[in-house]
Amino acid sequence: MDIINIRRSVRKYQDKAIEKEKIELILRAAMQAPSARNQQAWRFLVCTQKNKNFELSEATPNMKFLKNAPLVIVFLTSLCDLTVPNMYCQDLSASVENAMLEAASLKIGSCWCGTYPNKERMENVRNIFSLDDNLEPFAVVGFGYPLEDDAFKFIDRYDENKIINVGEE
Ligand SMILES: Cc1cc2nc3c(=O)[nH]c(=O)nc-3n(C[C@H](O)[C@H](O)[C@H](O)COP(=O)(O)O)c2cc1C
Repeated sequence: MDIINIRRSVRKYQDKAIEKEKIELILRAAMQAPSARNQQAWRFLVCTQKNKNFELSEATPNMKFLKNAPLVIVFLTSLCDLTVPNMYCQDLSASVENAMLEAASLKIGSCWCGTYPNKERMENVRNIFSLDDNLEPFAVVGFGYPLEDDAFKFIDRYDENKIINVGEE
């Protein structure tokens, strides 16, 4: 799929708001992800407040680039909805990837900030957004229209050495 090939982590954004209907498309894609036993134990904190995104960038070293992000989505695990607790990282990861691919299809750049299981990062996010105890930050993703023209470009990572073939005898 073309979108998979051209999605790149984009950390420099134009000072331009993302349209409400495009935010909804991104959230719809996030919620279409597969999840273990279809548990869908996710929540999405949508932040377009520049001062909050700036706070995140100041509090957490790996999130510095968020200071100019017009949109941040915090992917949260809803702990009380877990029916297959040991699978939620896979569920949430699928959801993040879906959202980033949808964004790329809309020409919106994005970058994943690893959050779970780093306690300090999770605590920073929890404090900035005053999260309920039931909601655990999994990932923070910055979104924005790219500043650079060549933000979406194909980098071939195909590597035969990473494949183990078990074929016919
Ligand atoms: C679980 C995960 C955590 C990541 N955390 C960060 C991060 O904290 N800060 C950052 O700038 N990029 C982060 N990234 C983005 C990676 O650096 C990026 O995906 C990788 O370099 C490959 O580049 P590409 O996304 O353009 O293909 C993360 C990606 C993943 C999947």
